[in-house]
Amino acid sequence: MDGNGRWAAARGLPRGVGHRAGAQTVRRIVEACCELGVRALTLYAFSWENRERPAEEIHELMGLLDEFIRREAPSMHENHVRLRAIGRVELLPQEVTAHLRRVIQETSGYDRLTLTLALSYGGRQELVDAMRRVARLVREGRLQPEEIDEALIRRHLYAPDLPDPDLLIRTSGEQRISNFLLWQLSYTELYVTPKLWPDFSREDLLEAFVDYERRERRFGRLVCQ
Ligand code: IPE
Ligand code: MG
Repeated sequence: MDGNGRWAAARGLPRGVGHRAGAQTVRRIVEACCELGVRALTLYAFSWENRERPAEEIHELMGLLDEFIRREAPSMHENHVRLRAIGRVELLPQEVTAHLRRVIQETSGYDRLTLTLALSYGGRQELVDAMRRVARLVREGRLQPEEIDEALIRRHLYAPDLPDPDLLIRTSGEQRISNFLLWQLSYTELYVTPKLWPDFSREDLLEAFVDYERRERRFGRLVCQ
């Protein structure tokens, strides 16, 4: 969800206003995904590296996150949206995580759309955390190094049951992965749009889906899966 800052700067407004506009986009896009039958949406809301931003901006982002969770919880229930979070979530301010955990718990039985927020998330950090857990099993004698395979590593990721994404949409024209879902994106289709996140609309989402439909996904093989 990139481009909030540039959206605000283009209007001579503080970055926080851009983040607030970006939060409105989240609402629109979650709603559209529900209607369009998307089963899983993962939003890169706050990266591991974003933690290096000025304290004031982080404070604003955390406030918006808290507001979003409080405001959207009723519609998550209404639309049977299951909320989840991936990342080193325990490092977020406690007042934010308390609500987050509550809504995650309350919505855990729903399965129309799984909405996963990547928070304090980094793909490399996810792999580090997975490796630490695997190493502990080896140390305890519960796992042999030869038993480590793709399936085992996947089981130690933050959300092992989430399917690998079919499509990654990156807004604001940047052609980078920026430490997002490094393991899971191996065969994901990439879509870059110049639209800044606050301007990204339901129509833009549909355009991305139409583009995706035209792709031939062969996963390294010769025939489509
Ligand atoms: C992305 O917008 C929002 C978050 C990091 C949460 P940016 O803040 O990265 O916006 P730009 O890149 O400065 O335009
Ligand atoms: Mg950015």
